[in-house]
Formats: sequence, C-alpha cells, structure tokens
Amino acid sequence: MSRPDVVDSVAELRARIRDWRRDGQRIALVPTMGALHDGHLSLIKIALERADRCVVSIFVNPTQFAPSEDLDKYPRQVARDLDMLTMAKADLAFTPDVNEMYPPGFATKISVGGPSAGLETDFRPTFFDGVATVVAKLLLQAAPDFAIFGEKDYQQLCVVKQLCRDLDLPVEIIGAPTIRDAHGLAMSSRNAYLDEAELQTARQFNLILRKAATALAAGAGQEETIAEASRALIVAGFQKVDYVEARESLTLAPWRHDRMGRVLAAAWLGKTRLIDNVDVSTA
Ligand code: PAF
Repeated sequence: MSRPDVVDSVAELRARIRDWRRDGQRIALVPTMGALHDGHLSLIKIALERADRCVVSIFVNPTQFAPSEDLDKYPRQVARDLDMLTMAKADLAFTPDVNEMYPPGFATKISVGGPSAGLETDFRPTFFDGVATVVAKLLLQAAPDFAIFGEKDYQQLCVVKQLCRDLDLPVEIIGAPTIRDAHGLAMSSRNAYLDEAELQTARQFNLILRKAATALAAGAGQEETIAEASRALIVAGFQKVDYVEARESLTLAPWRHDRMGRVLAAAWLGKTRLIDNVDVSTA
C-alpha cells in the first residue's frame, strides 16, 4: 500500500491539484483536525466514490477554540494519522502549520448567520467564525469539486453549506452519516478523553436522543419531550446538559411537527463535552 504524499504549503497543494486537474481528474477534500478514527475513514470512502483523488487536510484550527477550550490538549498524532490515510487510500495529506494558515498580519474573519444561531453558538460564541474562516480558506486553497463533512457535527455541516451558497463557492458539500460504535456512541476524537465509567455513560447519549426523536415523530409534546431527554441525560451520569433542542433539518429554525426535524444535543461528562444529533423522521 502506498502512503499518501504529504504537503504542508498552499503552493505545493495547489501544484499537486493543478497536475490532477490537467489530467481531467475530479478532486474531493476531507477537512479534519487529525486524530483520525473510523468516522473520518468513512468520509474518505465517500470522497473516493465521487472523485478520482482525495485530499485530507489535517490542521488543528486555533481560531475555532475559545481560550478556555482544549486547543493544547487536543490529540495530535500525525504519524498514526498517515497510517490511517494509507489504509483509506487517500491521495494527499495537507498538513499546514499555524503560520501557513494564519501568517503574521492575518486579519479576516468570516461570520455566517442563519444556521449558526443558537445551539453551539450559545455556548461557544466564536466557534463558527473560526470554522467558517478556516473552511473557506481550505476550499479556496484546494478548490475541490466536493468536500465531505460528517453529520455528527450537524450544525457545522449546515453552516458550511450556507457559507458556500452565500459566497458562491463552486464546491458541492456532502454530508456523511455518523459512524457509531456497537453501542451507538458517535465516533469523535474527543472520546479519547473518556475513562471507562464515562464511556459507559456516553453510550447512553444516542439512545436518549433516539427515544426523544421517536416520541416527537409520534406526536409527543416538544417541550415535555425535550425536558425529559435532558433529565434522562443527567440520570445517565452527564453532569451538565448545554442543550437538547429540536430544529428543522435544513434551516435549523425551531422545529414544527410538519417539517423534517433533527434533535441536537450537547452535554458534559467530566471535562469532556460531547455532541450528537438524530433525525426525527427516521428515529
Ligand atoms: O470538524 C472538524 O474537524 C473541524 O471543525 C473542521 C471542519 C476540520 C474545521 O477545522
């Protein structure tokens, strides 16, 4: 199995992609912050079903972390990541450093409205500005035909789609289903922070959200159902629930029963914050 080439400058990235384009090849980008797991591998698989070449960016983006968050602690394991990319048959890894992405004097911030309102933004007010800024840069640097984002970060996926629509970025954004362990826990690089007892609790997260989504789909009252899900998370062992909310699937506006819906939640287990979401119609 051949290892993917690794480039760490925008100039090299563009040169590689220019060569592929000259041969008429289609390019997919999978943006990541590294610490790759099966969820990322599923994104690469989808990328390679659509495109001839898959570029994976690995960049722990400082602008999406608040000063109080886990930027320093965020798992970094590039050698292992490259092994995973070899297995997944990715063609190229783009591993810029902070200076390459944000050189001295960098002074631009992209702020997306619409689906960024509420949910994560209530608790991480600068998060989506950081995500939108880095994703816009990556999309302009690689200029791919497709970019793949996991539905695990559902609000992020909606924000990225809005960004591309509003700025006429010529890329198709593809949402990929969440990959879960045998107990329903969504794969996340932050699961690495959980001890055994926390892992047991974390595995109830999706079950509780699915129960709420099933109740909503069957016509149960929204307020009671959401309150019950929050209570159930605390009973399961989560220390704090940031939010449990039902939103419209496409716009993330408050959900009404005649619309496609999504239940989204964030909750704390010790020092680890987990997020997950489920579809109301298929729960
Ligand atoms: O989902 C992530 O890993 C990050 O938010 C992303 C999209 C790579 C931007 O840094």
